[in-house]
Amino acid sequence: MSTVITVSDVTVRRGNSFLLDHVSWQADDQQRWVVIGPNGAGKTTLMQVISARMFPTSGEVWLLGERLGRIDVFELRPRIGLASSAVEGQIPADETVRDAVISAAYAVFGRWRESYADVDVARAETLMAQARVEHLAGRRFGSLSVGERQRVQIARALMTDPELLILDEPTAGLDLAGRESLLATLSDLALGQSSPTSVMVTHHVEEIPLGVTHGLFLKQGRVVAMGALGDVMTAEVLSRTFDMALRVDEIEGRWRAQAVR
Ligand SMILES: Nc1ncnc2c1ncn2[C@@H]1O[C@H](COP(=O)(O)OP(=O)(O)O)[C@@H](O)[C@H]1O
Ligand SMILES: [Mg+2]
Repeated sequence: MSTVITVSDVTVRRGNSFLLDHVSWQADDQQRWVVIGPNGAGKTTLMQVISARMFPTSGEVWLLGERLGRIDVFELRPRIGLASSAVEGQIPADETVRDAVISAAYAVFGRWRESYADVDVARAETLMAQARVEHLAGRRFGSLSVGERQRVQIARALMTDPELLILDEPTAGLDLAGRESLLATLSDLALGQSSPTSVMVTHHVEEIPLGVTHGLFLKQGRVVAMGALGDVMTAEVLSRTFDMALRVDEIEGRWRAQAVR
C-alpha cells in the first residue's frame, strides 16, 4: 500500500473567510473515498488542492509522492484525472465527444491544436465504451444532456491513465434513472481491480456508489469525521455535518438519510 494523498494542516483563506481550516487527511492507493458536506463546506476547494489546481495558504500537500509547490504542476496534473463543473466549462461546446475525450491526453481543450496517435484514438474508444457514451462519439459536446456530459467527463478524466481520479459532484443535476445508471458506472470503476485511487464529492449519501471504502465529512472548512465508511457513516456524524437531526440506513451497500421525526 502506498500513500496517494497527504494533506497536512492545510488552510485556504480568501480575505477573512477560511475555505479550508486546518485540514489534515491521508488517502492510500487501495482506498476509494467519498467527501460529504453541505454546500459551501469547502469540498470543491479541497478537490482543487488535491488535483494540483490550487495552492493552500498554509500547510503541506503531497500528491503521488510529490510535494505540491516543489514539483512542476504540469508534470503532476496528467497523473490526476479531474471531472468537475470547472473542467466541463472549459470544453468547447462545438467540440465532438471523441475529441473532448482524446484531447485530455495532450492537456489541451480543442483538437485543432494537435493530431492524435492511433493508440490514443483506441484508448478513447475503450473509455467511451466503459462510460457508455461510445454512441455519442461524433456528437458535439454542447448538444449533450447533463448525464451524458458527466459520463464524457469521466471518460476524459481517465484518458491519461491517472493514478488518482477526482470526481466533484458527478451525479449533480441527474434524474433518478440517470443517477442510478451513472452510479452503476461509478461502482464498476470503484470495484475494478486496476482502477485508480478515487475521491468523489457529493452532498447526498444516496449518491455514494458501491465500492467506496472511506468517507471524509466536511463542514465550514473543517473535518467533522473521516475513516472507513462503515465506521464514520453514523447518524451522529451526519447530523453534525448537516446541522440537523438525521438518521442513516444502509441497504445492500447503499446509504439513505432522512430527518428524525
Ligand atoms: N474566492 C473566494 N473568495 C471568498 N470565498 C470563496 C471563494 N471561493 C469560494 N468561496 C467560498 O468558500 C466556501 C467553500 O466553497 P466550496 O469549496 O466551493 O464549497 P463546496 O464545494 O463544499 O460547496 C463557500 O462558502 C464559497 O462561497
Ligand atoms: Mg462544490
